[in-house]
Amino acid sequence: MQIHILTLFPQMFQSPISSGILKRAIDQKLVEFNIRNIRDYTHDKHHTVDDSPYGGGAGMLLKPEPIFEAVEAAKAEISPSGQAFRTSPEEAANTTPIILLTPQGRLFSQPIALELSRHSHLILICGHYEGVDERVRQHLVTDEISIGDYVLSGGELPAMVLADAIVRLIPGVLGSEDSPVDDSHTTGMLEYPQYTRPPVYRDWAVPEILLSGNHAQIARWHREQAISRTLERRPDLLGKANLNREERQLIDRLKN
Ligand code: ADE
Repeated sequence: MQIHILTLFPQMFQSPISSGILKRAIDQKLVEFNIRNIRDYTHDKHHTVDDSPYGGGAGMLLKPEPIFEAVEAAKAEISPSGQAFRTSPEEAANTTPIILLTPQGRLFSQPIALELSRHSHLILICGHYEGVDERVRQHLVTDEISIGDYVLSGGELPAMVLADAIVRLIPGVLGSEDSPVDDSHTTGMLEYPQYTRPPVYRDWAVPEILLSGNHAQIARWHREQAISRTLERRPDLLGKANLNREERQLIDRLKN
């Protein structure tokens, strides 16, 4: 996968892509980051990227021209790369999501991360100042995403959040030992509690069932714990979770 990021602060991305799973994915050529500075697509002496809004109002808006040109440059570079490339370059350029990070976007979630992880290319635009000229929304971007109901000073941290959540879902990025299938939210529920050695620490013992070696009972315990934890912390998730009749009955018992 190629991830193109358009930003006014390219240096912010250096650290996140230089360690951990993102770095490993880059080293394994499973993902390539292409980070470009929106300011490089200005043509005036002062490299102006923003201007005041027509009709008045507080703050400055990102101008449309450098953003359109930076996206066009990214699209022109969309080329066969890595194993993720499954379409012709023309088709890839036309079907590539062009995502504006903005608090006005749809709320990011694990299903959205999974959907985006299936694309061979993504273009992420980091908004700034009070916002962007509306024509970017109307005529350039194909999607707008928010990472939560709060306002950050720019789209850079949200773009990193998306990149991290998406890249770890690309097949081959995580080893089988840290596979994402049991992750909180992948199952539609929060993850069950987990323990490692020692079996007793400061009088606190690991639940006996986990030491029993009975895999069927352990799997059942995991499922029950995930359900009770989700019920306690995020009951809103249970409405959408895929539960069988027995599990629904367990919820009713726990509620009582
Ligand atoms: N830019 C500023 N705040 C944001 C948010 N919550 N999500 C995405 N982009 C943003």
